[in-house]
Amino acid sequence: MPVPSTPAGAYEICIGKDFLGRLWPALEAAFAGRTLFVVTDAEVARAGHLAALLGGREAGVYVIDPPGENSKHLQTVAEIVEQMDRGFLGRDSVVAALGGGTVGDIAGFAAAIFKRGVPVVQIPTTTVSQADSAIGGKTGVDSSVSKNAIGAFWQPAAVYIDTATLQTLDDRQYRAGLAESVKHAAIADAEYFAFLEAHVEALLKREGEALVHLAEANCRIKAAVTAEDPTEKNKRRILNYGHTIGHAVESASGFGLLHGEAVAIGMVAAGRIEAALGLAADDRGERIEGLLTKLGLPTRIPRGYATEGLTDLMKRDKKAVGRRPRFVLLEKLGQALCRDGQWACEVDEEMIRTLLPRLVAG
Ligand code: GLY
Repeated sequence: MPVPSTPAGAYEICIGKDFLGRLWPALEAAFAGRTLFVVTDAEVARAGHLAALLGGREAGVYVIDPPGENSKHLQTVAEIVEQMDRGFLGRDSVVAALGGGTVGDIAGFAAAIFKRGVPVVQIPTTTVSQADSAIGGKTGVDSSVSKNAIGAFWQPAAVYIDTATLQTLDDRQYRAGLAESVKHAAIADAEYFAFLEAHVEALLKREGEALVHLAEANCRIKAAVTAEDPTEKNKRRILNYGHTIGHAVESASGFGLLHGEAVAIGMVAAGRIEAALGLAADDRGERIEGLLTKLGLPTRIPRGYATEGLTDLMKRDKKAVGRRPRFVLLEKLGQALCRDGQWACEVDEEMIRTLLPRLVAG
């Protein structure tokens, strides 16, 4: 497995199947003399993953409830660090983030600020977090205005990916996370894209080998990009392919759309922008949309969204410069576009305004 080298230090990414029940002793050995504190959510606990990890052992645990984006705010982080403090945990503690992207983001941020920073171990249990959010050190919460507005880069001490945890994920969440795999393949690896096209059925059936291959490919791509640009000065922006419109649609939906679903819509939108700019003479747009459709993901903005409001949300996107939204586009399938040394391109606002209504579901 790749061991990305970052300014915060290299960390190991372990990928396998059915090892969650054996992980705790391995963590205790790896962090001997330190106190482990688990952050998870009610859904992950209900799925049995917390019990599997602890195996009947006593440990400090914070369960995020309700699970999901609606708990991803500063109050939850405050409760976690208060509980750790009340429990006499010190700088020798280690936070274990067991769950999906929201758990990893919240727990990672709590670790980043508790006693000015303690290690976090990411144990992702969803397709989104195994493919994307557990790797690369982005942590944080939403403000009342925008998504991920408050946060820190806090690289994990280690990442443990047990693909068996995906078996209990509900179908919609499972499929939504596959959008991040399509994203990685589209921006960085045409062969991986072809693998996804050829293994749609195996992936939808959650077959073991396909899932391990998926995790390995995602980690290889994400680790390479984030090792090159850990704090998103430039190249890391390619991991935001599909996110400019995606985040806007996700926010406008009041999180009724899952992140991966919104990113799927955003990737199709990016393809339309490429076509409008004369950059896409090949079949990439059809292939991306075709794969997303086969994976059961939405490719159109649901009806009823004010496209004016979406354009405003895009101006708050972190890639925007001077309130001008920027988009990650493709050079070709498997390669993101770099223009004048920049990996996120400014696109004429009028073009976006014209395109958006055409992307609304009929
Ligand atoms: N999810 C995009 C990134 O980690 O940069």
